[in-house]
Amino acid sequence: MNEDFVREIEATLIYVRNAFIIPECDPSRVTEAIAVDEMRHMNWLADLIVKRGGKPSMGHKELDFGGDDLYGQLKKQIALETEGIKIYKYQIGSIDDQEVVGVLKHILDEEKRHRKEFRMRLEKIIQ
Ligand SMILES: [Fe+2]
Ligand SMILES: [Fe+2]
Repeated sequence: MNEDFVREIEATLIYVRNAFIIPECDPSRVTEAIAVDEMRHMNWLADLIVKRGGKPSMGHKELDFGGDDLYGQLKKQIALETEGIKIYKYQIGSIDDQEVVGVLKHILDEEKRHRKEFRMRLEKIIQ
């Protein structure tokens, strides 16, 4: 769960930075709003970790923002959501803790929505 927590930190930081860099209003606002969702995911996971006697790990790796153009950033953001979806699906199928599974299912639904939002913005710029 600490690995999930670190991935959520990375997504939060990448989206906050990109929301400032992206000059186009709509994708910037969407990225900012989703950054807030990712921070909520951090909080939910931290709560599960602490309740089970652990401590949230803050040791994230060097961040890859997807470059300085909107295309690269959206591609990167979609890839992050896809990675999260894959990992959460696997964990939901293999973890035997109803509370954890309930939270992960909620997060999974949101990651799917995030990927859809980013894909819609990517389609707009490659038309
Ligand atoms: Fe998330
Ligand atoms: Fe997400």
